Amino acid sequence: MLRKLVAAVSIAVLSAFAAGSAFAARGGIGPPGPDTPSGEAISRLYWVVLGLCAVVFVLVETALILFIIRFRRRRDTPESAEGPQIHGNTRLEIIWTAIPALLLAALAIFTFTQIPAVQAQGIEDEQHLTIRVEAHQFYWEYRYPGGEVTVNTLYLPVDEPVELELTGMDVIHSWWVPALTGKMDAIPGRINSLRFVPETTGDFEGKCAELCGIQHAFMPTTVSVLGQDDEYESTLASQQETLALGKATWEGACATCHGLSGEGDIGPSIAGNGTLSNEDGLKTLLENGQNTSQFDYYMPPVGRGWPPEQLDALMAYIKSNETLSTAPPTTTGGGG
Ligand code: CUA
Repeated sequence: MLRKLVAAVSIAVLSAFAAGSAFAARGGIGPPGPDTPSGEAISRLYWVVLGLCAVVFVLVETALILFIIRFRRRRDTPESAEGPQIHGNTRLEIIWTAIPALLLAALAIFTFTQIPAVQAQGIEDEQHLTIRVEAHQFYWEYRYPGGEVTVNTLYLPVDEPVELELTGMDVIHSWWVPALTGKMDAIPGRINSLRFVPETTGDFEGKCAELCGIQHAFMPTTVSVLGQDDEYESTLASQQETLALGKATWEGACATCHGLSGEGDIGPSIAGNGTLSNEDGLKTLLENGQNTSQFDYYMPPVGRGWPPEQLDALMAYIKSNETLSTAPPTTTGGGG
């Protein structure tokens, strides 16, 4: 009995240590960052809730272990013996109802006080940048007020409040860059907004947080926060150059399923495929996808809602890339 108890406790302690060092490698058990006031509010909430839960957990589990030991069956107690039959204790029952109720009320009140900070309420009245976020299977398309487009990387100027307008172009996705703010669903047919103020320059990694299909795990995003002077403007402008936009579009919209060189991955090999150089055919395919029993492969409508420059940029990039634009000497694998 005692030996089993010691073994169980040692296993618990060892796994706590193993988990602890695993977490430490990722920068602790807390949320990453925070690098925005929204992120700070989320961290505050996280630590207060975790702290309160930890105190309750330790108290309850300690009492549980003590009671198991203190009130165990003794060697000289007959097996048929029954414990004392206790019917109610009003004072105890009131205490163990009131304390949890008070704790939950305190947590709820604290949570409500943090919501305005998490949602960066008030910035919509200030001068702010509005960026449309279109989530596709399986990449992120960012549309800026000046008509610029970027794929998977969102460029932002530091210290300028931003409001993201998120929508889904096919299924439900969820935008989540934990160092900056909470996550928000991108739902077809509606616009959800997410506001925050990036206060630190640098790259912040995020991902799609809603299971959205076979390549959901390969739907990362990066928020690149740049200096306010003209670093932001010039970087965004350089991303609009035809080949840069074409390459980003190829890598985000096409390569995720067809491989970086079009060699095929979960989607068929498309390197050198005639459709890649047929503007009308490619446009139709990208806008509508492929979802009929005539073809072996389902393809999402990855190019739905693209501005015309983006298709041109993609075609220019394909043309500039010999592997993609040259028909392979022997045809292998399925078409598409
Ligand atoms: Cu998009 Cu998961």
